[in-house]
Amino acid sequence: MSSTPSGLVVAVDGTSGSGKSSTSRGVASRLGLRYLDTGAMFRAMTWWMLRAGVDVHDAAAVAARAAEPRIVSGTDPLAPTIAVDGTDVSVAIRSDEVNAAVSPVSAVPEVRRRLLEVQREAIGAGGIVVEGRDIGSVVAPDAQVKVFLTADPAARAQRRAAEEGGADEDATRESLLNRDRIDTGRATAPLVQADGAVHLDTTAYTLEQVIDQVVALVTAVGERA
Ligand code: DC
Repeated sequence: MSSTPSGLVVAVDGTSGSGKSSTSRGVASRLGLRYLDTGAMFRAMTWWMLRAGVDVHDAAAVAARAAEPRIVSGTDPLAPTIAVDGTDVSVAIRSDEVNAAVSPVSAVPEVRRRLLEVQREAIGAGGIVVEGRDIGSVVAPDAQVKVFLTADPAARAQRRAAEEGGADEDATRESLLNRDRIDTGRATAPLVQADGAVHLDTTAYTLEQVIDQVVALVTAVGERA
């Protein structure tokens, strides 16, 4: 039985399609921790902007309305949920429309500031695996375990296209790489490997093997505590 220190935060950052969600959920359920998908929050904000008719490429227009949607995440790793103003948007936030708009919306500082508050509130006293792009660097810089996941673009596109029920792999690859470019290049909280993060290239590993590696990192922290 692995021991987890109280107040534990496991930060899982990385590129789109590197396996962050499956890994984070697997680690959380194995260790009895909660799970927070911060990407889903940015997607929910984007879904709301599109529905409200806001031009997602107009940063000032997005900033002006960033305080309006009420975004609530359920943190059960076996059944995570995301709601906007009481509406379940778990499926709607995975649409092509949201995929194409989420990176520009996420680059707006007011959006990040707003969601940072919601994320810190959800993290609360810890006992949680948190996945995103800036968790180890900005949201939870004191996290006891920080992981940075990457994988070859071809492997990422293949996995993501399979998840999306056989979507076109070339188009999926372009969409992933485009999001990486914007996420890495933005001025506020860009995608970076945080200080103290362990880099795992997941290309050659199965999901179970990656989960094993992260669980081993958490267990090592528990043993040192
Ligand atoms: O993890 P994902 O693919 O669902 O994330 C969707 C987008 O949300 C991603 O392209 C960038 C943004 N994001 C972010 O800027 N910061 C986070 N902590 C999580 C996601």
